[in-house]
Amino acid sequence: MGERRIRGWHFTLQDVEIAVTNNQLLMLDLECSNLCNLSCPYCFRDEYAEQHVALPDEMTVEERFDLLEQAKALGCRSIKIVGAGEPLIDLLFWQQAEKCVDLGMTVMVNTNGITLGEREVARLNELGASVILKFHSFDPEINDFMVDRKGYSAYRDRALKLLIDAGFNRDTPTRLGFGSIVTRQNVDGVFGMYKYCVENNIFPLFKTWLPKGGTWNFRDWIPSVESLRTLQEKISEYENQHWAQGFNRCTPYFGGFSCMQLHYSLYVDIQANVFHCVGDAEPMGSLRRQTLAELWDHPHVLKIKGRTYKGCPKRAGVVPRTVAEAEDADLPKRAVG
Ligand SMILES: C[S@@+](CC[C@H](N)C(=O)[O-])C[C@H]1O[C@@H](n2cnc3c(N)ncnc32)[C@H](O)[C@@H]1O
Ligand code: SF4
Repeated sequence: MGERRIRGWHFTLQDVEIAVTNNQLLMLDLECSNLCNLSCPYCFRDEYAEQHVALPDEMTVEERFDLLEQAKALGCRSIKIVGAGEPLIDLLFWQQAEKCVDLGMTVMVNTNGITLGEREVARLNELGASVILKFHSFDPEINDFMVDRKGYSAYRDRALKLLIDAGFNRDTPTRLGFGSIVTRQNVDGVFGMYKYCVENNIFPLFKTWLPKGGTWNFRDWIPSVESLRTLQEKISEYENQHWAQGFNRCTPYFGGFSCMQLHYSLYVDIQANVFHCVGDAEPMGSLRRQTLAELWDHPHVLKIKGRTYKGCPKRAGVVPRTVAEAEDADLPKRAVG
């Protein structure tokens, strides 16, 4: 029995236990600029501004380097870039990625793939980075519709081919993932994408909605609990037949991966605000006033760090979480809504 993993997010249960015992931060969710070349209607990061433009008070390169050094000092092993806009069009992205590697940390980047050409793929490969490519559907019409850009799928497909040709999915753990949220539009195709991932050594990051930002404007895109449950059961059946007998999943992700990052990670947005994870609505503090170490010991983090949970507590009571429900009634609720 094991978990599906991607390089940079491949911690074992033992790694997590040791990290909790030693109060070690294993991973940092980090944002690049808010600038984006898409405007996906559902995007939780539409909160910053009406448009996905660069913000006046984004972290400078010095601040970003300082943060990476602070993270390294807390034991950090990988940096997961989760936004805010499209990381690969942030002019500081490459400097930041190189700094991570110089410090001995793995870089993992979520991208819509539009600007991923041969040169960029080769550079990411040299850095040993992992890439989670936005992938909503094999059907180009659904895929384009979900990001509100006709013709987008051709860019996505070009990026996928380049990443596969460069061998990102030949490593163990893999360095290639598909990232998608499950909506009414794509829910019927997610099982097919999941199977494709498993068969091609691609990390499937298919998730439920974050309870913030664009989610609220597009609530009618949120699929029914019924359809999510059917999907989860179908994936479980497949997993149990083919691979991970009795695997106990933990939402928000579908399939053989449990999100336990509240035990070992923090999230820093591009304005230097620090949260426990991307599901939080209010920051715990700011790197412009506090150190990362101080915020890693914030009471909100300490409260949840050592606990066990079955479902994503950040989504509790807001978005249908399907089968696995969080059990602890007193888990922090400030994150929600
Ligand atoms: C904000 S995007 C930034 C990286 C890149 N632009 C991309 O789209 O992959 C990071 C991840 O957040 C996901 N995301 C955006 N809005 C979301 C929402 N409302 N609920 C859950 N995930 C969301 C995206 O699908 C993507 O995987
Ligand atoms: S989900 Fe990613 S690509 Fe889409 S608007 Fe948000 S940041 Fe841009």
